Amino acid sequence: MTTEATLYGGITSRRVTVRDLQSAKDRGERWAMLTSYDMLTAALFDEAGIPALLVGDSAGNNVLGYETTVPVTVEDMVPLVRGVARATKRALVVADLPFGSYQASPAQALETAVRFLREGAQAVKLEGGRRVLPQVSLLVESGVPVMGHLGLTPQSVNTLGGYRVQGRGDDGDRLIEDALALQEAGAFAVVLEVVPADLAERVSKELVIPTVGIGAGPGTDAQVLVWTDMAGLTPGPGPKFLKRYADLRGILQAAVTEYAEDVRSGAYPSAEHGYS
Ligand code: KIV
Repeated sequence: MTTEATLYGGITSRRVTVRDLQSAKDRGERWAMLTSYDMLTAALFDEAGIPALLVGDSAGNNVLGYETTVPVTVEDMVPLVRGVARATKRALVVADLPFGSYQASPAQALETAVRFLREGAQAVKLEGGRRVLPQVSLLVESGVPVMGHLGLTPQSVNTLGGYRVQGRGDDGDRLIEDALALQEAGAFAVVLEVVPADLAERVSKELVIPTVGIGAGPGTDAQVLVWTDMAGLTPGPGPKFLKRYADLRGILQAAVTEYAEDVRSGAYPSAEHGYS
């Protein structure tokens, strides 16, 4: 294995491609994906070596103030995709196709995907299995790399009846068939969200393409987390699968409180912060 071939530390002078992610699976190298919605976090995650960044429609409940991802529009996503793409040099930028921007027809999916690729994304993600195969096929034939998304698909929260574990019992077999169909249609990877760990491991072994787990246990080829959850900016304990790697919420709260107190007391700004 040459150093240039590895995702971590190997590829430094160009963007990571979907072929690099496939090679990583082929040699058993696991990788991490994070969401990003803005230039500052995108640049930071890129410099930290995260090989793939997802401009997720989770922007709905992390940036835009919605309760779910359902109201997110293409217009909402465009500036976020643009910011993340412009701020990165190395990471593969994957743009989420929001609810209502691809289900109607393959032509609609292509129009949305082209919009995002024009803004600088290199790939798109869409939710669903066999019902979106015509969309996946047209996108791939047209030169758009597609990441699938199975299991808990948040855009379908109203039909799923909440954010609960998917793929238990017979649903597991259906999920495997969906995953194989997505692979057959040309998807380069599949996200598996909140499914039993043994099912995710089975899918990961059956598929040639990489699986990206979130709440799917340790048996997938890659993992993805919403960055605000991972870094502890979102309130509350979060879902069972979440590991918080920092307490950004606590750090920001302390900083904001100290700043406000300094202004109130006159400690800030002091002479050193002024101009003569
Ligand atoms: O929008 C998003 O953040 C996602 C991930 C949870 C996979 O789809």
